Amino acid sequence: MKPRIFVTRPLPPAVLDRLATRCEMRLHPQDTPLSPAQLAEACRDQEGVVVCGARFNEEALLQATRLRVVSNVGVGYDNIDVAACTRRRIPVTNTAGVLEETTADLAFALLMAVARRVVEGDRYVREARWKQWEWTLLWGADIHHKTLGIYGFGRIGQAMARRGRGFSMRILYHSRHPAPEAVEQELSAGCVNRETLLGESDFLSLHVPLTPETHHLITARELRLMKPSAFLINTARDQIVDEEALVAALEARTIAGAGLDVFEREPQVHPALVTMDNVVLMPHVGSGTAETRLNMAMLAAENLLAALDGRRPPNVVNPEIYS
Ligand code: 8YV
Repeated sequence: MKPRIFVTRPLPPAVLDRLATRCEMRLHPQDTPLSPAQLAEACRDQEGVVVCGARFNEEALLQATRLRVVSNVGVGYDNIDVAACTRRRIPVTNTAGVLEETTADLAFALLMAVARRVVEGDRYVREARWKQWEWTLLWGADIHHKTLGIYGFGRIGQAMARRGRGFSMRILYHSRHPAPEAVEQELSAGCVNRETLLGESDFLSLHVPLTPETHHLITARELRLMKPSAFLINTARDQIVDEEALVAALEARTIAGAGLDVFEREPQVHPALVTMDNVVLMPHVGSGTAETRLNMAMLAAENLLAALDGRRPPNVVNPEIYS
């Protein structure tokens, strides 16, 4: 008998076909989020679940007594109650390894857009406000030879550093675990303490996962340590930043601007942010390209199938269940 699985979104057809040949698949056919209660209901009697853009909490686990794997489509897995899965020895998997370059592309795009006022300029032209060439029109900030500070130096942080190197930037990073010397040398990246990173960065880009330790890592205190000319780029998770403090810092020009792909109460955005010209906003699409989304979905499928086969999935995030 094929194992029963539930998939929370209409993933690419090639992925659904692969899953359907091996599993008895139920699919939420709309590209809309399921509430935790709907997901819990849908997971009843399932052996596997592919979670994409939904919260999988203990309530779902209580109903899903036959569950053998939770496969998350995404590298961040703060939407999954991993501890509760671990207690029941259920592997949780993510899609690390296929979306880092794409996410760094967006982080660098936000950096460039906010520094060179691309969105403001686009609006200015479209709204027919451009009447004549002006010497002082839309002056921005230089990117080349500036200091790029990277908070969190995993795969996405390092991909960001490579982009910064291409723009002759000085690369500083802060991380709980300093990178191997060979990586630091290749990226010309120096590991510094938090205060130095905050104080010296012209662009501070966040690349830490959301955990209890990183919740509100950036508060009013950290923002005050930044240069008034500095920009904050966040493509990680917004709960890492105290959004009220960020709004206050932007209003007071404690920092110069921000490029944001993530928000504390997504899809709601702080009303003050949408009124600010020195902020570029994107709707949480860091990994949003056709190639990368296909690779993520396929990897999530392979992770799920491995676990259902009784094999250890390539991307298990709670490996302690195997010890
Ligand atoms: C996902 C993300 O699209 O990978 C992540 O951590 O934030 C995104 O790439 C999101 O998690 C929805 O599954």
